[in-house]
Amino acid sequence: MSPNHKLLVKNAKQVVLICSNGEKYLTKADMQSVSVVENGSVVIGSDGRIKAVGPAETIGAQFSEASFDKVIDATGMCVLPGLVDAHTHPVWSGDRVHEFSMKLAGASYMDVHRAGGGIHFTVEHTRAAAASELLAALCGRLLRMQRAGTTLVECKSGYGLELHTELKMLQVIEEARRTLPINISSTYCGAHAVPRGKTVAEATRDVLQVQLPRLQAEMSSGRLSVDNIDVFCERGVFDLDSTRSILQAGKLMGLNINFHGDELHPMNAAQLGAELGALAISHLEEVTDEGIAAMARAKTAAVLLPTTAYILRLPQPRARAMLDAGVVVALGSDFNPNAYCCSMPLVMHLACVNMRMSMSEALAAATINAAYALGRSHTHGSVEVNKQGDLLLLQAPRWEHLIYQLGGHQEIIRYVVIGGNVV
Ligand code: NIG
Ligand code: FE
Repeated sequence: MSPNHKLLVKNAKQVVLICSNGEKYLTKADMQSVSVVENGSVVIGSDGRIKAVGPAETIGAQFSEASFDKVIDATGMCVLPGLVDAHTHPVWSGDRVHEFSMKLAGASYMDVHRAGGGIHFTVEHTRAAAASELLAALCGRLLRMQRAGTTLVECKSGYGLELHTELKMLQVIEEARRTLPINISSTYCGAHAVPRGKTVAEATRDVLQVQLPRLQAEMSSGRLSVDNIDVFCERGVFDLDSTRSILQAGKLMGLNINFHGDELHPMNAAQLGAELGALAISHLEEVTDEGIAAMARAKTAAVLLPTTAYILRLPQPRARAMLDAGVVVALGSDFNPNAYCCSMPLVMHLACVNMRMSMSEALAAATINAAYALGRSHTHGSVEVNKQGDLLLLQAPRWEHLIYQLGGHQEIIRYVVIGGNVV
């Protein structure tokens, strides 16, 4: 006898597929009309992958309800793919609520950073924290993200800036990956800031000659699995040349290039990313037209972070120019002690209001395109046969309520499903 199917979600008012032809990302007009089935059902097989999706009548005729471990009657609900958060810094100790008041009083992000706060403050506390404390904090944050509909999340290291703490952070991410249902893409970000008392050259040498070789050994032995490499390429942090050498070394180790660029100053980071075959560049508030064109050609995803521009009162990233040029636009929460946001629905709302994206564009950016930015769009980011069964069920007559309703979405997200299991 064949094993039972895991889950039937039946009679949903709408099932939002996002795309239906195996696309790995959406651009331009294809982002305007995400595919939707009215009155639909979804079948998740015993392997946790989507086995069928379509009109409720068709699915009802094909599958007997008795063959399912669990059936959810989704009458009055909408089904969407689980959300993908393409950029977070969720492993740290010591909040920065005091800096929020400094920034509200007029201090800029770099004023606080240069005064020894910002990333440096978090580094000090994270170095001092036990792995168990960091893990407990990480798990709590990931749970909040999951409740807000995130089923795949990128998690960075980067508050160690030296071997011991960077490894501690990556091990904590690895532990969460092994024990929690949420899907994790892990990123080494040892070049997140220049440690106090070091020059850029010294910090770059430490990453290249000390941290990366050890990371490679940990990866080869199977003790750690890391997916991406990140650098904060910014004036006063890592310049273009040091960024290039670190990203190239990471690429040689098999890591995807996914880095912070063109945030506070135009650095030509977009052009560098395109040249290196980066999968994604985040921020891009200050990207130039040439940078946008290069990213569109190279199909390097732009991970836009509306929370950062909002909190720091930066100019908004030029989402419309990027969309018009055919860039693969994705979204991330940028969760970190500066931007304390666990909610992708809120991120989509900000992207629509402040960056002038449509709701369909924002949803595509927070699902299939965010999965593409993490090299996972063949398995995640849409409701398509054979993809992982990651869904959210929304108590609302149309899917757009997920974005339209400002805050309080935990109350309308009735179920989050990961790999066919209700979590
Ligand atoms: O993406 N810009 C650099 N990194 C983070 C902020 C990290 C922090 O301030 O702790 C970002 O916004
Ligand atoms: Fe960041």
